[in-house]
Amino acid sequence: MIATEHPLCLGLETSCDETAAAVVSRAGEVLSSVVASQAQLHAQFGGVVPEVAARRHLEASLPVVERALSEAGVRWERISLLAVTRGPGLPAALLVGLAVGKALALARGLPLVGVNHLAGHLYAHALGDPGQNARSLPRPAVGLVVSGSHTDLCLLPAAGGLVLLGTTLDDAAGEALDKVARLLGLGYPGGPALERAAREGDPTRLSLPRPLGLLRGPRQEQPGVVGGQYAFSFSGLKTAVATAFGRDPGLAVPDVAAAFQQAVVDTLVQRTLSAVRDHRVHTVLLAGGVAANGLLRTRLHTELHALGVELRVPPVRYCTDNAAMIAAAGWMAWQQGGAADWDLDVDPGLPLAL
Ligand code: KG4
Ligand code: ZN
Repeated sequence: MIATEHPLCLGLETSCDETAAAVVSRAGEVLSSVVASQAQLHAQFGGVVPEVAARRHLEASLPVVERALSEAGVRWERISLLAVTRGPGLPAALLVGLAVGKALALARGLPLVGVNHLAGHLYAHALGDPGQNARSLPRPAVGLVVSGSHTDLCLLPAAGGLVLLGTTLDDAAGEALDKVARLLGLGYPGGPALERAAREGDPTRLSLPRPLGLLRGPRQEQPGVVGGQYAFSFSGLKTAVATAFGRDPGLAVPDVAAAFQQAVVDTLVQRTLSAVRDHRVHTVLLAGGVAANGLLRTRLHTELHALGVELRVPPVRYCTDNAAMIAAAGWMAWQQGGAADWDLDVDPGLPLAL
């Protein structure tokens, strides 16, 4: 017995190291969200190995889909739409998900849509419990999508669409956290491990630069990135940690973790506040795996609250990679363009767009 009369979408996500499937109604109600993490498999290598990830997606996709249906308490006949991540992500991992999605769509006679994974992260804000109607994204708003491979600041104008304000010029925030965690011997996945270590540390024991202010040079003219003041750069910060750690091995790991986390969070908060002031919005949507970070959530909340701006953060389970967000974005893709053609392809470098 299911709790909704709305049409249902089955979402499938395989862009990195999580095989995920979910059943989400057209009203944004999450009936099930199953995530099979490969973190343990990749931990022995210190990071995601693309071929290993793709092979595991191949093994896990169908069982994860079956579990999503059974946890939702529905049969295939109740599903009206299939949504699958088509990019950005690891090419081989994306290809497995798309092939599985096409095969299921063909076998079950269902329409298929390809979803932008980063739009999916934003659509975590359109999810709700059964009975709640939470489908549309609040507008106007500033969005900050911070994941293992992206750091994107964007504007969601009242009239619709999305304007990319700034992105990272080098490492993504999550990537920098993962690399520094590895340097500190904290293991993989690095972000949560670094956050745990930082809780025991004193961030003032190590002084790190804040790559703030206007960035000059030709990169300012990157298409789709307005000006340089919203651009991010984390690789210098990462190098500063490596240098300091190499020079003074007596530095305590929790102190370094705390100082680095603080520097990353300061940068993310500063750019977000600038965008809020410049575009006079009263809502900020935080999304992506790094949005699970407690310090980032608290700092953004405090600073925005002081400006009378609301911070919206999805529950942690919908910040890190999942398929409920893909299904929610799938409904939007369906509404905008209908079913994809059978020649739908993956796009590993797809930029954030709605
Ligand atoms: O969105 P996501 O699950 O996957 C990608 O699309 O990349 O983001 C993964 C990233 C990783 O870099 C991970 O270390 C980071 O999110 N992350 C965190 C936390 N949880 C996950 N970073 C800081 N603090 C956390 N609690
Ligand atoms: Zn992601």
